[in-house]
Amino acid sequence: MQQKQAPTLITAFEEEVYEGLTAFPKHLSSKYFYDEIGDKLFQDIMAMPEYYLTNCEFDILEANKDKIAALFRKDGEPFSLFELGAGDGKKTKILLRHFVDNGLQFDYRPIDISQNALDQLEASIKVEIPQVEINTLQGTYFETLREIGNANGRRKVILFLGSNMGNLLHPQAIEFLKNMRDSINEDDLIFMGLDQKKNPQTILDAYNDKAGITEAFNKNILARINTELGGNFDLDKFSHWEVYDPETGTAKSYLVSKETQMVRIESLELEIRLNAWESIHTEISQKYDDSIVEWLAEQADLNIVTDFTDDKQWFKNYVFKK
Ligand code: AVI
Repeated sequence: MQQKQAPTLITAFEEEVYEGLTAFPKHLSSKYFYDEIGDKLFQDIMAMPEYYLTNCEFDILEANKDKIAALFRKDGEPFSLFELGAGDGKKTKILLRHFVDNGLQFDYRPIDISQNALDQLEASIKVEIPQVEINTLQGTYFETLREIGNANGRRKVILFLGSNMGNLLHPQAIEFLKNMRDSINEDDLIFMGLDQKKNPQTILDAYNDKAGITEAFNKNILARINTELGGNFDLDKFSHWEVYDPETGTAKSYLVSKETQMVRIESLELEIRLNAWESIHTEISQKYDDSIVEWLAEQADLNIVTDFTDDKQWFKNYVFKK
């Protein structure tokens, strides 16, 4: 039996966990994968051979840095380079180094939800590329887009790498693109990395590694509920399960209960029942092709200026403007 009367819920995490675990079918949001442990697991994922996305985008930036510099530099006026979800900035540093070496006038404004990630990024840039003027901004994508919109003066280029938009359903992605559009002017650019449809097995392997890193990443949401909300999930009683639909290009992650079990979450005053083989949907990772991206751009009233891809055409970086 599920206890239906909701207690007073304070944080968005509490509210979303309550809503998701009392819904049918059950779901939780992948944005809650990321605490200090989740950040580290995601870095480990990016270093796995199966997770091709990082290397593909790295190769694209390396091979096209001249063309990208020419696009961003435009007439040579200074610009502000914003980056949403900057993380460790490993790929961005290719561009930063190249821009500095070629005398581009810019300042770098990385944005991330994690202050810890921003502090580490700032410290590493100060050592590795000290010529870069850096100002960090902590917050969610939606909050910080407002700030970007209010930043006046310089031309803006917004980087959104790593197929991060793929963690949003299409309606949310359109909303997000519209927000981006509202925060830029005519001469500004959006530079976005989006993973492409490909052999379904390659995609499944990227999200279902044998070492179990993706499994631990997926289960980290249950671990967070245990530590932060007083839950008693037994992580061993769940399987990580990945599916990919080649028609829609959507990869979906689930946690599947291996047996019938009751779980209690103290701070939500909630007891839930999971039947044997019942699922909790935790993440989508959308894969794209040009027609999907053209449709999204059209819905958000954005124009595609150009795109860059890798040798295997597994990943693409698109440039949008108003
Ligand atoms: C952050 N995001 C783009 C990653 C992805 O590919 O969807 C998160 C991830 N989930 C499992 N592996 C990596």
